[in-house]
Amino acid sequence: MRLFIKTLLGAALSASLAVSAQTLPQIKILATGGTIAGTAASATQTTGYKAGDLGIQVLIEAVPQMKEFADVSGEQIFKISSNNMTDEGLLKLAKRCNELLKDPKVSGIVITHGTDTLEETAYFLNLTVKSKKPVVLVGAMRPATAISADGPMNLLNAVRVAADPQSVGKGVLITMNDVINNARDVTKTNTTNVATFRGGELGALGYIAGGKNYFYKESTRPHTYKSDFDIEKINKLPRVDIIYSHVNADRVLVDAAVAAGAKGIVAAGTGNGSISEREEAGLVDAMKKGVTVVRSARVQNGPTTASVARWQEEGILFSQALNPQKARMLLQLALTKTQDPKKIQEYFDKY
Ligand code: SIN
Repeated sequence: MRLFIKTLLGAALSASLAVSAQTLPQIKILATGGTIAGTAASATQTTGYKAGDLGIQVLIEAVPQMKEFADVSGEQIFKISSNNMTDEGLLKLAKRCNELLKDPKVSGIVITHGTDTLEETAYFLNLTVKSKKPVVLVGAMRPATAISADGPMNLLNAVRVAADPQSVGKGVLITMNDVINNARDVTKTNTTNVATFRGGELGALGYIAGGKNYFYKESTRPHTYKSDFDIEKINKLPRVDIIYSHVNADRVLVDAAVAAGAKGIVAAGTGNGSISEREEAGLVDAMKKGVTVVRSARVQNGPTTASVARWQEEGILFSQALNPQKARMLLQLALTKTQDPKKIQEYFDKY
């Protein structure tokens, strides 16, 4: 009799677990590598470790608490340190996101990613994912083997945000260190600290605290389902180089970029995107050869504006409040659609 009751209870429990697994939001975790999957020789080693060493199943098994609110499954896309991310890699990731998000059973995507170029991947996806469903990028600053590794809690939070109906339609999000940021404004601000991802003066969207997500803001710039850019039939992005300005800057790197086949150059200028006269001469010659030039700024906050009248007359565009690495992403996508400088400036004004 006792055995019979036990069997019945067991069957009821498995049935209820099966039902709740069916009703939980289905979240796909796409793994690309990075420190969140990194391993080191000792628990105190937090630099010089092997990024991207662990597979996605290991990361999922380390955080069983995710299964309380999401039906998670993993897919290994890359196993790289994100300083090795490529244009081809971005296209592959964006296409896989679009493919998965078309499936009505999938509620959202979490992407584990190295922090070095996470902001670029996030912004690229923000412009190319064609869905309102949440896409959340997450990384870690300490390898998985470290004391106080930040990866497991970051991953739990990322799944929590991806599974949350509040995250729908907000564009690509980044969750790290209990903060929710948007892909457009976030940037890595510290080389080693866990509190590295910040939206600068434009701020964060919200927080994750006590197991809840708190949203306070949204980006006013179009993204994902409202974006003009479609990469489904694109297999190669135009080459766009970033030239970082400094005291004594000349045109050597500009000429090298043109010789390498650049179709666009982002000038990471000083101050409000200022360029030296010698750089300017190189950039004007580059434009005569059909290269599109956009001024951005090496300064972390504030818009890069039209500024000096001569630069506008020469046809040099400006990035508004996009940092050089994100201006590069937008210029690459803009060049897949047009070479008309007026139209490209409109994209920078809009996005
Ligand atoms: C990487 O970007 O892959 C290495 C650094 C990190 O994830 O923090």
